[in-house]
Amino acid sequence: MVMLEYESLRFEDGEKIRVTFQNIYNFYLNKEEVSELGRFKVHPKGLEFSSGKKEANLRQKFEFLLTRGFEDLRCSLNGKPVLYVHSNSGIPLIGSNEFGIIDRGTNTIEVKPLSSCNIDCIFCSVDHTKRTSDVYVECDYLVDELRKVISIKKGRVNIHIGSQGDPSLYGDLVRLVKEIRDIKEVAAISMVSNGILLSKTLADRLIDAGMTHFHISLHSLDPQKAEKLANAKYPVKKVMESCEYIAKKAHLLLVPVWVPGINDNDIEDVIKFAKDIGATLGIQNFLEYQLGKKPVNPLPMKLFYKKLGDLEKKLDVNLTKLDTTLEFHEDTRLEKPFRKGDVVQAEILGISRLPHSVIAAAKGRVITIMGTDRKKGSVKVRLTRDKDNIFIGSIA
Ligand SMILES: C[S@@+](CC[C@H](N)C(=O)[O-])C[C@H]1O[C@@H](n2cnc3c(N)ncnc32)[C@H](O)[C@@H]1O
Ligand code: SF4
Repeated sequence: MVMLEYESLRFEDGEKIRVTFQNIYNFYLNKEEVSELGRFKVHPKGLEFSSGKKEANLRQKFEFLLTRGFEDLRCSLNGKPVLYVHSNSGIPLIGSNEFGIIDRGTNTIEVKPLSSCNIDCIFCSVDHTKRTSDVYVECDYLVDELRKVISIKKGRVNIHIGSQGDPSLYGDLVRLVKEIRDIKEVAAISMVSNGILLSKTLADRLIDAGMTHFHISLHSLDPQKAEKLANAKYPVKKVMESCEYIAKKAHLLLVPVWVPGINDNDIEDVIKFAKDIGATLGIQNFLEYQLGKKPVNPLPMKLFYKKLGDLEKKLDVNLTKLDTTLEFHEDTRLEKPFRKGDVVQAEILGISRLPHSVIAAAKGRVITIMGTDRKKGSVKVRLTRDKDNIFIGSIA
């Protein structure tokens, strides 16, 4: 008898074997193919084979099937295909706006471990209904590459865990924070979340691991309004309880988006709540993004700041200065291996999130190529964007 177990996977028997990866992703194994390796029984943590084969031999063959299964990975929240970015994928972590590491030449480095979200906000800058796939980055790979970026900085750095989706869904979040905390140049570690999954237990585990700042996007205290904004079930009371709890143990920033005409009065309630529980505020103006949702016309920035100024006076609160523990300043910038306008030879490696777009790699950078469905091959790409080492282009 040989038992093959995998910590990050869960197995379920059925017509096919359903394999769940990091809680929210899955793929299926064909039972006929698995039975070619010997008689087997499915356990939640792995497969038990009754076979005369040596364990190493069996493991190698089974892992071949697992690797192939990963190519059909899907997100169970939305059914979309998932690109799994890991250290052997050949996919760099610098260059995409969708995942990986973003360096804007300051003491704050953003890491984006996944792109899935559990709600569908009516104002989201990343309209998930326009994205046909998701992406997930392996924790160890993310940390190894992050160390390299940190090593070019002159001073200590703050790490912000962001995402095009919600970082609280990342199955390895606690481990990610622990590993980042072990890097001695790291000062603050922050994350931004809609707060739904940030239970007191998870908050405690994250704080113990080294998370210092939580940014929670709480846009209204009214249950119906909050659900309207989330375009999904949103447990306002539970999120408020977690906020109260977190504020006692770490830095809490409430970061509502002010969507004009929709939550104007709610913003005042969120400010009062923040004051009550000892949280700071970072109110965000609703901004219109080309590939985001557009429920209303945005407020001009000048008017937004005027309104914030009025609220500051009315409620005796600071709404325009950032938490001093997160202040950012310039630091060394990662070098750009190529510039906008360049024609670069790149290797296509997988799907990108938008329809008719793929990701390719060249000189340690990801390039998103728009307007193509090519699945692989070496192509010439003309770059249309290079800002902050985020590269976009089209086939030349
Ligand atoms: C894209 S979200 C990802 C993190 C997480 N899902 C969340 O909502 O907190 C990052 C931040 O941008 C805010 N945001 C989303 N769409 C926006 C928009 N159109 N204008 C301004 N801020 C926006 C969110 O409220 C959140 O604070
Ligand atoms: S704003 Fe955040 S929580 Fe809302 S849909 Fe977008 S990614 Fe998800």
